[in-house]
Amino acid sequence: MTLMRRREFVGGLAAAALLASQAGAAETRPSPGGEGAPLRERAARKGLFYGVATKTRLFSDVPFLEAVAREAGMLVPEWETKRNAIEKVRGVLDFSAAERLFAFTREHGMAFRGHTLLWHQSNPDWLEGALTESPDERLLTDYVTAVAAHFRGRVHSWDVINEAVNPASGREDGLRPTAWLKAFGPRYLDLAFHAARAGDPDVLLVYNDYDLEWALPPYEARRRAVLRMLEGLKARGVPVGGLGLQAHLRAFGRTFDATILKGFLAEVAAMGLKILITELDVADRGGPSDPARRDQAVADMAERFLDVALDQRETVGVLTWGLTDRYTWLASREWSRWPDGQPPRVLPLDADLRRKPMWEALARAFDGAPVRKPA
Ligand code: G3I
Repeated sequence: MTLMRRREFVGGLAAAALLASQAGAAETRPSPGGEGAPLRERAARKGLFYGVATKTRLFSDVPFLEAVAREAGMLVPEWETKRNAIEKVRGVLDFSAAERLFAFTREHGMAFRGHTLLWHQSNPDWLEGALTESPDERLLTDYVTAVAAHFRGRVHSWDVINEAVNPASGREDGLRPTAWLKAFGPRYLDLAFHAARAGDPDVLLVYNDYDLEWALPPYEARRRAVLRMLEGLKARGVPVGGLGLQAHLRAFGRTFDATILKGFLAEVAAMGLKILITELDVADRGGPSDPARRDQAVADMAERFLDVALDQRETVGVLTWGLTDRYTWLASREWSRWPDGQPPRVLPLDADLRRKPMWEALARAFDGAPVRKPA
């Protein structure tokens, strides 16, 4: 076992031990809010995690926080560990908002994951100009290493790079033409992962992207570009340890083929990578307006997807991008908003924090998943 693999092994054991302890802790926890053990407990029983994205702006909503503490065994910041939240002022790293989220996880026996060390969005206003004026690699490496080091030993995994491929842009390598690519070329990918590892020797380092889940040629092109990029990173000894599928799904209007997804996940696993479902929600625009029928279609899509994803032994857990329809990014997107003004119904709990068919679908998916052995 190489040193890197041993460290990842140790890191994986620590994460698995934390998950197992949560199962115990959760079992002593009453599960109010309806019948059945919470999702965090059902996932932990199988050596998986279930988590949610949230943000400090919601911390005044106590009933919401109680639902998060009940259902989730992991938190990922929707905003607070992005560069525009940490380094608004060049050279001044402010972790205060992220630490508030981290403190919540300590209070409720939850794991914490970081999102994202490097992205083409949500960067501070000063950064793009700096990259253009004098593209110094330290603009990338110093920040990534410093943030990873700040959270060293406290994070289950990091999305090191988010959304770096975009075959529709026409590049032969399928990479997205971003300010990072313009400044440093494709090697920016390697720089980011090495810089993250320099900050934290053990944390699971993840590449995260969207629209990898569907059949049809444009999505196959995305999968091929991601696989090609990951193969290159692995061949150069870059410390990438996992692939994050955002899984922003849709209940209507997309073609899902379980065999295609199963094959893709098998290719990723064959590279020795872990798989994380990092931002699951199911947009419900485009179907019948009746809420009960929308809810069932959303649940069916979630279950069809998770049955494939969780059957792959290298899948280590699932996060939904939010917990309740009361707070979802999809309420602010034109394409996902209902023309009749109905709120989106895309997450496990409804706006009144009641469990929906999607919650039942996730519960069945965790209950039916094979047990994971520690990494
Ligand atoms: O609260 C801050 C405020 O303090 C700050 O001064 C202001 C400066 O712009 O931003 C405010 O934060 C907003 C933040 O959400 C918290 O609500 C940002 O304006 C807003 O851009 C940010 O949007 C987030 C978006 O990513 C961009 O970072 C969404 O909440 C978040 O749901 C969305 O999540 C993305 C994933 O990171 C990547 N995958 C797609 C997913 C959905 O778009």
